[in-house]
Amino acid sequence: MPASRRGSGSVTLLTGQTIAIHTRTQDEEDLPHATKKTMADHLRKYESLFTLTPQRMRMIVEAFTETLELGLNKPNQIVPMIPTFVFGWPTGEEKGDFLALDLGGTNLRVCLVTLQGEGKFEITQTKYRLTEDQKQDDGQKLFDFCAECLNTFVETNMGEGEGQLKPGQCLPLGFTFSYPCSQERIDHGELIRWTKGFGAGNTEGRDVAAMFKKSLEKFQLPIQLTALINDTTGTLIASHYVNPRTKIAVIFGTGCNAAYMEHVKDVPKIENLGIDPAAEMAINCEWGAFDSFEHEHLPRTKYDTIVDDTSNKPGEQAFEKLISGRYLGEILRLVLCELIDEGVLFLGQNTYKLERPYIFDTAFLSLMESDPTDELLMVIGIFTHFFALETTLAERQFFRALAKLIGRRAARLSACGIAAIVSKMGYLEEGCSVGADGSLYNKYPGFADRVHEGLQDIFGDKGRNIITHHAEDGSGVGSAIIAAMTKNRKDAGLYLHV
Ligand code: BGC
Repeated sequence: MPASRRGSGSVTLLTGQTIAIHTRTQDEEDLPHATKKTMADHLRKYESLFTLTPQRMRMIVEAFTETLELGLNKPNQIVPMIPTFVFGWPTGEEKGDFLALDLGGTNLRVCLVTLQGEGKFEITQTKYRLTEDQKQDDGQKLFDFCAECLNTFVETNMGEGEGQLKPGQCLPLGFTFSYPCSQERIDHGELIRWTKGFGAGNTEGRDVAAMFKKSLEKFQLPIQLTALINDTTGTLIASHYVNPRTKIAVIFGTGCNAAYMEHVKDVPKIENLGIDPAAEMAINCEWGAFDSFEHEHLPRTKYDTIVDDTSNKPGEQAFEKLISGRYLGEILRLVLCELIDEGVLFLGQNTYKLERPYIFDTAFLSLMESDPTDELLMVIGIFTHFFALETTLAERQFFRALAKLIGRRAARLSACGIAAIVSKMGYLEEGCSVGADGSLYNKYPGFADRVHEGLQDIFGDKGRNIITHHAEDGSGVGSAIIAAMTKNRKDAGLYLHV
């Protein structure tokens, strides 16, 4: 009998779920396992596939910067660089009650935001879970659901008592719709394409603001859709509201994207709109689409190609598919499946649970990387509890190292995107703050440090001038501030046509 040590304990996952772990550690077990040497050899192979050298990063930044310029020059480019009609920064003195509706990737959120001036606010909110069916069903039904939730929220929170709506009062609403929409004006947005696995029918190519207004009419609510915004634009404005050094906002969550403030004179494609060239306007980059279809610039492995080919949108969101939380777990799972097929891993064990696409959550990568135990008890827990698979220490160390490679690549690519905006805008010398949000940024251990390290690899020491920080709630507070800014702008009669 090989030596074996047993123990039990429990861990709590990010989801709040607690799992019991029974450990047994031994080097040679009854099951045929890969040797330490085999795992080390494989790791070297993956290291070379997933590692980005500083030189390669600089090449990506150069191509990225050109792509950003192209999107500002001409309409309908792959990275669309969408003018948002959010003019300049908030003053911090925006005041009043605003509703915000946030349709992101996982939940639907309704918020009542009271802006109090001096950068202060209060927020009341409710979250509603979206089902997979709702994401794929008819688009109008999805907006009906949004309107219904809004109605429930208003009835619950503003029907009576202190927050009761006054007769004749009409609440401005900021709708955060975090998918690429080309906008002709701030309360309009034609959905270019669904991302993040959404696929609701009869929506692409249509004005989602008009669709939502139609749903809203059914409830006769005293609400006016004032602004349709992207989560990155909301994050940019909300972060600047509390930290005026913020010049760029990024989201690294289920999807990924960035927004920043641009000079109107540098957006040639909107020359015809009669906007003062000296004005400033936020641009929603939709950078997740960088390198889509042509796949010329990004280092894609065969696992990335499989993720892409088997997605509901092959060819699209090429940058996002290497970075965002929706895909990282799947990339790791595909590597494991390859090693299973090659007879390296889990010989003699039933691997059917691991063979299901998207079953390996990106949260598992976070958990594996943050496992503090020598034995890697968390990794044991994940594999036994979720996949009924036994692992040796050498295998677990390999899984953790693999998670690190995939997570690090995502962070370094993210740094390339940030660096492209920094270069384009000339922010390197003076430095700037980058408001960042999303599950990957907030929960993946070391993600921010790796982004900062990446920026230094690209720019040298000056890369330290660019600092990311956890952003203010863009989809709620940001959306409300933008609704307030828009209302103020329109009340002042400025650019009423957009
Ligand atoms: C969407 C963007 C969004 C990002 C982060 C991407 O998939 O295209 O509009 O900002 O996800 O939520």
